Amino acid sequence: MKISVIGLGYLGSTHAVAMAQLGHNVIGIDPDDSRVQALAAGTLPFFEPGLEDALRQAISSGNLSFQTDHDDLSAVSDIHFICVGTPQISGQQSADTSYVFAAASQLAAVLRPSSLVVGKSTVPVGTARNLITNMRKATGFTPKLCWNPEFLREGTALADSMSPDRIVIGSDDLEYNQALKSCYQKMIDQGIPVLELDLETTELVKVSANAFLATKISFINAMAEIAEASGADAVRLAEAIGLDNRIGKSFLRTGIGFGGGCLPKDIRGFIARADELGVGESLAFLKEVDQINLRRRQRIVSLATEELGQVSNKKITMLGISFKPDSDDLRDSPALEIALRLQALGGIVTVHDPVSLEALEKKSSGLISESDLLAALKDADLVILGTEWADYKKLDPEAVSSLPRVKTIIDGRNVLSVEAWQKAGWRIIAPGRNIVND
Ligand code: UDX
Repeated sequence: MKISVIGLGYLGSTHAVAMAQLGHNVIGIDPDDSRVQALAAGTLPFFEPGLEDALRQAISSGNLSFQTDHDDLSAVSDIHFICVGTPQISGQQSADTSYVFAAASQLAAVLRPSSLVVGKSTVPVGTARNLITNMRKATGFTPKLCWNPEFLREGTALADSMSPDRIVIGSDDLEYNQALKSCYQKMIDQGIPVLELDLETTELVKVSANAFLATKISFINAMAEIAEASGADAVRLAEAIGLDNRIGKSFLRTGIGFGGGCLPKDIRGFIARADELGVGESLAFLKEVDQINLRRRQRIVSLATEELGQVSNKKITMLGISFKPDSDDLRDSPALEIALRLQALGGIVTVHDPVSLEALEKKSSGLISESDLLAALKDADLVILGTEWADYKKLDPEAVSSLPRVKTIIDGRNVLSVEAWQKAGWRIIAPGRNIVND
């Protein structure tokens, strides 16, 4: 099939490659010329394991190309996917849908009545219906529109796109879904379930799934607060409750909390939308989910301050700065916020990260970047593990014990072996646990 993918950020770039891998002829469109040039040359604007190789293969197979303009789209595409971002509006809770409306209006200028428009962006409930109204006004016909949320996670983006747990399609007419189902036929043949719903339910599926995941993480982090106050251990608690099949163990990892470009802004946007709909009280609990999450960052700053006595002029090493491993995304990263707060308290903060230092440099944060792990640990008064990269999980505490000035580590992600680190002479501290160090 001939496909266009509008918006080449995380979602769009991955979707374009995935569709090319399914054998479709794909054109990726983005107004940013340098991004388009880089993608056409096989370079991703972000780090994602395996995706750059897949991008290059797709380009050389002739299935994938990139351009900045929409003019010839109607001639070259049967399905147009809208994959633009919906970031949190600065100073507000709501999601900024202006890029979605702009993409739809540019598309309307060239759209054929037979073509299908598929929204993949995460939008507040009601957006798709407003888009139909706008596009109808611009084109003079009712556009065929489906909503089809994307559930990919950074770090496993391509695999998640090619093998999602489910395909959810929302529309006003089941007939519209046919072309999209044909597009995904190879995935459907693998047995991936397809749910065909109305537009509003489909829009809600994405934001409510993310709200549920955020709630699960904040639940266990609230238990961490109780554990800290009562002498319990939230990691063992999570293990014990997670073995109940009705609860399940995923998304119960306690630590410095969630971040990234999705979960935080999606719960805030969802709260704002519920307020607009006059049912703000239904999502009042999500405000608490957000607050619990943000308190975890301060908890690490407090633990660091307790350890150091005073932070000023102390050398602190932050291991990992991205919001999760296998990503260089610094959006709403808990590790970055903790590092900046410690720096604001006068700490000299050195950051190591396997891939995110380039992204950090662009922020001019004042944090010291060190690409050599051993050099980063040298002379530290305190080490904090902020992102659970594999490199840190396999660190040999014995081998690095001579490097820091003070052998204390705060394991912000609860991934290190307390026994092994203590045996090597380290003090190890972790949120949600009451570890006894000699
Ligand atoms: C999320 C959703 O999982 C995905 O379906 C959606 O499409 C986009 O948002 P992503 O933000 O890439 O994906 O990462 P995810 O793996 O969900 O992690 C989000 C944050 O939660 C990370 O900061 C992670 O470290 C944190 N997390 C996750 C925890 O703190 N504890 C956990 O148990 C799981």
